[in-house]
Amino acid sequence: MEIIRTVNDMQAYADQQRCAGNKLALVPTMGALHHGHFALATHAAEIAEHVTVSIFVNPTQFGPNEDFGSYPRTVPEDLAKLEATRSVDAVFLPAVEEMYPRTRAGQKAWVRIEDLDKHLCGRYREGHFLGVTTVVTKLFNACRPHVGVFGLKDAQQFLILRRMVEDLNAGIELVGVPTVREKDGLAASSRNVYLTPEERRQAPSLYRALQMGKAVIERGERNPEAVKRLITAHINENAGCKIQYVEVVETDEIQPVRQIENGSEVLIALAAFFGDTRLIDNVFVDVNAGP
Ligand code: PAJ
Repeated sequence: MEIIRTVNDMQAYADQQRCAGNKLALVPTMGALHHGHFALATHAAEIAEHVTVSIFVNPTQFGPNEDFGSYPRTVPEDLAKLEATRSVDAVFLPAVEEMYPRTRAGQKAWVRIEDLDKHLCGRYREGHFLGVTTVVTKLFNACRPHVGVFGLKDAQQFLILRRMVEDLNAGIELVGVPTVREKDGLAASSRNVYLTPEERRQAPSLYRALQMGKAVIERGERNPEAVKRLITAHINENAGCKIQYVEVVETDEIQPVRQIENGSEVLIALAAFFGDTRLIDNVFVDVNAGP
């Protein structure tokens, strides 16, 4: 497994692979790797001849009051685990100065996707998706993949990036991998380590509530407010967390729906704070013609 730290070296390496006729997949991460990330790498190895995983804690996607400084950094362990998967050919591991040589203030090119960040996490994390789309563009430019592999756990991120490559004619295929969960349903996340034992016990109620919401839609409920009320009530009864949002949106423009339409796809997404730890989760629902 090659470890590559500069954009120049990464581009040269990717070009060599492309010339050899290999299909390249990139799995962007911020490290602190867990089995959710490994599922992406495994999937990438199934669809491409060459897999690069990037590890970069991107400062521009963290707000001033967010956890950039304390975000878990476990590079030696991450590298050992990636090596052990035998699915990964290269790790792109740039320093902040490599990705932002002129610092944040000197970075004048930003990739802004209009409107899709107005709801869900984008509404509460100002500038977050601007940082994500910009850094993913930089990672694509450095690693030159044919395919980018992302988790549906971060559904809004996936939908925004999918729109970005489409609207910019990037010629990169995006693949979304279903959310990997712990046995009790909690979505695997680098932030789960911050939960107290009591919070960890309560946290799976987020996914149970989402499943209940999905089930009532499948049984014919078409009023998103009723779905949201059910989910909110279940979480409030079973967990001491503070809900930030519960929304039902359509999956193209990521706008809340007034009525859940037959034949459409909707995303039920939520965020909640357990103490200072913010967890997100979601489910996609294919809305059939009702019961
Ligand atoms: P990070 O949170 O490290 O996640 C890296 C990738 O792993 C993302 O595509 C995310 O959706 C996926 N992932 C995380 N938990 C998962 C789970 N339980 N199941 C399936 N996939 C999961 O997302 C980011 O980093 C950053 O925003 C990044 C795209 C790297 C840009 O900085």
